[in-house]
Amino acid sequence: MKLKYKLIAVFGGIVLVPTVLFSICLITILNLKNNAGVLDALTEEPDLKDLSIKMACIIIVILVLTGIALVSFIYKEIAVPVHQLSEGTRNIAEGNLEFEIEVPSSDDHMAELCRSFEYMRKKLKETTERNIENENENRLLISNITHDLKTPVTSIKGYAEGLLDGVADTPEKQQKYLRTIYNKANDMDRLINELTFYAGIDTNRVPYNFTRINISGYFDDCVDELGMDMESHGIELVYMNYLDRETMIIADPEQLKRVVNNIIGNSVKYMNKDKGVISIRLKDGDDTILVEIEDNGRGIDGKDLPYIFDRFYRTDRSRNSSKGGSGIGLSIVKKIVEDHGGRVWAQSHPETGTTIFLEFRKYRE
Ligand SMILES: Nc1ncnc2c1ncn2[C@@H]1O[C@H](COP(=O)(O)OP(=O)(O)O)[C@@H](O)[C@H]1O
Ligand SMILES: [Mg+2]
Repeated sequence: MKLKYKLIAVFGGIVLVPTVLFSICLITILNLKNNAGVLDALTEEPDLKDLSIKMACIIIVILVLTGIALVSFIYKEIAVPVHQLSEGTRNIAEGNLEFEIEVPSSDDHMAELCRSFEYMRKKLKETTERNIENENENRLLISNITHDLKTPVTSIKGYAEGLLDGVADTPEKQQKYLRTIYNKANDMDRLINELTFYAGIDTNRVPYNFTRINISGYFDDCVDELGMDMESHGIELVYMNYLDRETMIIADPEQLKRVVNNIIGNSVKYMNKDKGVISIRLKDGDDTILVEIEDNGRGIDGKDLPYIFDRFYRTDRSRNSSKGGSGIGLSIVKKIVEDHGGRVWAQSHPETGTTIFLEFRKYRE
């Protein structure tokens, strides 16, 4: 039976049962004409008889009104929210989360139930939206990876064929072909590393090995290593260290190397000048050290600058260029720097160059 009918039955019960009982009593009394005392007075006195009928009518009217008030109150407090909730459940079952449950203003169980339902709907909506976003990002990532892996594989195949077919017929040419194959394989290796690492940070599984490191010594070695690589790209590397030689920070050397490599990798990739220059400067803040990595490459538009540390973000120009990339390099940088308790930000002028700033807290005894 629907709640509405049950309520009508309750209404009937509230109003009819007392009315019927009262009427029976009244009729019985009126019929007992031969009774003495009060009953004689009641039946023989017309005024009293009228009065009792009037009173009976008034009581019936009051009962009916109270019944209506009670039943409509219960109907409004229970049936309306229950109806809303069942509609809501049906909507959710059909995958529609774009509705809202009206939470009663009262402070009872029904209001509590509606509030919980609304909370559940909002949470479900958020999760669904996040899943869709993740799915889109993953799709984008897969298409980027496919593109980025395909480009070097195609070159490697081409140059290897050149060697096999004897197109590279002089030792110089063979050297050049082999070097290109080596560089392309390196590009792939870097990309695969980036992706493996990314899968790790996405699920918070980066194994950090924090130790105390002497930042000057660390960057001296870093620059030595980078120097040769930069030479092969025809880029000048400038290194300026304004730090006290004893300055220490707490960091994971391997992950810090990843940070520097990702930033320098971008500077090399987006270099568009014949005379490329990359400068690394170490500066002293009071409690912090600042690492500035500046290039004179093609720079980043102001509209893109706030987003370059977002995962998968690549400027339109990068996406439309032949330069591969997954748009996760700088998001990895940000993640690692923040896990070190540091900060990272960028400044850039289109066509002039880009500077990436890294700030770390100094280690104090
Ligand atoms: N040094 C730079 N010079 C010019 N553009 C840069 C530089 N570093 C980053 N960018 C821009 O920021 C975007 C995001 O960088 P990143 O996260 O490393 O992704 P990816 O290099 O895979 O495209 C790049 O696509 C590029 O447009
Ligand atoms: Mg990059």
